[in-house]
Amino acid sequence: MSNAIAVFASARRNGNTGKFIDWIAKELTIDVIDLSEKNISPYDYDHKNIDDDFLPLMHKLLEYEKIIFVTPVYWYGPSAQMKVFIDRTSDFLDLEELKDIGRQLRKKMAYIVCTSISNDADSSFINSLKDTFEYLGMKYGGYIHANCEDGYVQGNYRQDVESFVSSVRELSGV
Ligand SMILES: Cc1cc2nc3c(=O)[nH]c(=O)nc-3n(C[C@H](O)[C@H](O)[C@H](O)COP(=O)(O)O)c2cc1C
Repeated sequence: MSNAIAVFASARRNGNTGKFIDWIAKELTIDVIDLSEKNISPYDYDHKNIDDDFLPLMHKLLEYEKIIFVTPVYWYGPSAQMKVFIDRTSDFLDLEELKDIGRQLRKKMAYIVCTSISNDADSSFINSLKDTFEYLGMKYGGYIHANCEDGYVQGNYRQDVESFVSSVRELSGV
């Protein structure tokens, strides 16, 4: 079994970010989970949504050593679907019975795969995710970004994909 998995959230499955992660996932032979296929509702202080797809998804992710967060840059941040997913990790901080699940994230590596129409991923976007990983105790493994200013031009990203894929593989045998 592969030791990595990708969690993908874009407003379209086969857009720039979808194509980018499909390529990377093929190289790494890993699965891509599309958050749009999950019923995960926004964070709720009363946890009335505790029975939605968030917890089963977290259990699935925790089977892997490396979690790759995949999102376009939308307004200097992650997609709304990715933000909802990240917000929900607060369930682990609130609920005593879930704290153990939250603690399991501490052993995990986190990576970012992103696209935008800028030369590089916006620093506030990267930093907000990095800070979140750090807060959750995850180790940050780095990011790869595709500039899609002229559309999705696969040939432009080849070298970056090669080094990203080998860095994900490096730390153990994906
Ligand atoms: C709502 C929205 C907000 C965006 N905000 C930014 C941004 O802040 N910076 C940027 O460089 N590109 C921005 N873009 C461009 C997207 O990041 C870029 O087109 C990306 O490759 C889209 O990926 P997708 O096809 O998976 O949606 C934005 C696009 C949309 C639709």
